[in-house]
Amino acid sequence: MKVALAFSGGLDTSVCLRILQEEYDADVITVAGNVGQDPEKLERIKEKAEDLGAIKHYGVDLTKEFIEDYIHSSIKANGNYEGYPLSTALARYPIASKLVEIAKKENCKAAAHGCTGKGNDQFRFDTTISTQGPELEIIAPVREKNLAREWEIKYAEENNIPVPVDVNEPFSIDENIWGRSIEGGELESPENEPPEQIYDITKSPSEAPNESKILEIKFENGIPIALNDEKINGYPLIEKLNEIAGEYGVGRIDIIEDRALGLKSRENYEAPAAEVITKAHKALEQLVLTRDELKFKESVDNLWSDLVYRGLWFDPLREDLDAFIEKTQERVTGTVKIKLEPGTARVVSRKSPYSLHEPELVSFEDYGFDQKESTGAIKFQALQGKIYRKRRKDR
Ligand code: ARG
Repeated sequence: MKVALAFSGGLDTSVCLRILQEEYDADVITVAGNVGQDPEKLERIKEKAEDLGAIKHYGVDLTKEFIEDYIHSSIKANGNYEGYPLSTALARYPIASKLVEIAKKENCKAAAHGCTGKGNDQFRFDTTISTQGPELEIIAPVREKNLAREWEIKYAEENNIPVPVDVNEPFSIDENIWGRSIEGGELESPENEPPEQIYDITKSPSEAPNESKILEIKFENGIPIALNDEKINGYPLIEKLNEIAGEYGVGRIDIIEDRALGLKSRENYEAPAAEVITKAHKALEQLVLTRDELKFKESVDNLWSDLVYRGLWFDPLREDLDAFIEKTQERVTGTVKIKLEPGTARVVSRKSPYSLHEPELVSFEDYGFDQKESTGAIKFQALQGKIYRKRRKDR
């Protein structure tokens, strides 16, 4: 039988490839999606797939759709789950969708992935496969066979599978243009401080430049479209912000996260661009949306992030929420200034043609706002409390 395997060239998926050939008697077609990594890495993945006997390999550049269909939606929704900017979560959907597309095109019987049975990625892969290609069988060898890392390393050595050079570093790393996720090794104990070696795209704040830097980000309908007066968007903008904010040690995240299965897990992330863009986007929303819109949208954003995290991108509710979010973004146009200082990014200025802020009304100076008018409003504000106190003599 023919099987399409989502293949990253790492230990898990390399072992899966061989197990599919040996134990499932499969002809394996490997699929690697680029979501903003180094192009040289894609070339190495291809070579590895061929060395391991894949009958065909697809290296697909998914960067454009990852940014336009997923990251941009997440920016509008202030995508964040318990402090995590959803970088890995978002990328799984375009990768799994492409896997399904290729599996169908190649007449595969099954789609396979290397996710464990403990994490969240299995939710994202399985739901994408079962909604986009319900006729496909799903094979997840690591999950089905309860494989553990140590067993995989031994299996790789015995089966002539080149073990990745970083295998001695006990961390499990996933990276894309929206952020890096680092798990495992000594990080598994929530008590251990993350060692400096886990970071790749951020400097330590203690080594950041002393002089601060201002970033001016222009948004149109909720999407960043310019940086410091230069028209730049999509991949080059996110790449540039990762670089500049990374220099300041911005975007290091260390949290305890509640996985889809309920397991609490210690997670570390680096996401400088995501941190800067989300902060700026929220600041602009504060300026242009009403109090009630903001409050309601915060609950919508949380629910949206929850769905994306838990593998429910293809749920109709996600689309419903997106329709609301999209409508709110009609006014999220304007410019935000962010000040970078070692380890922090702080909003220091915002302006928009749709601003609901009326300087004259709120000013401490007298600009014709009749203060006496508010007395009546306050009287009624406390009305029910007053009656309550009157009835309950004991309070
Ligand atoms: N906790 C994050 C998530 O569920 C990151 C997972 C990272 N995956 C990995 N293989 N290191 O999206």
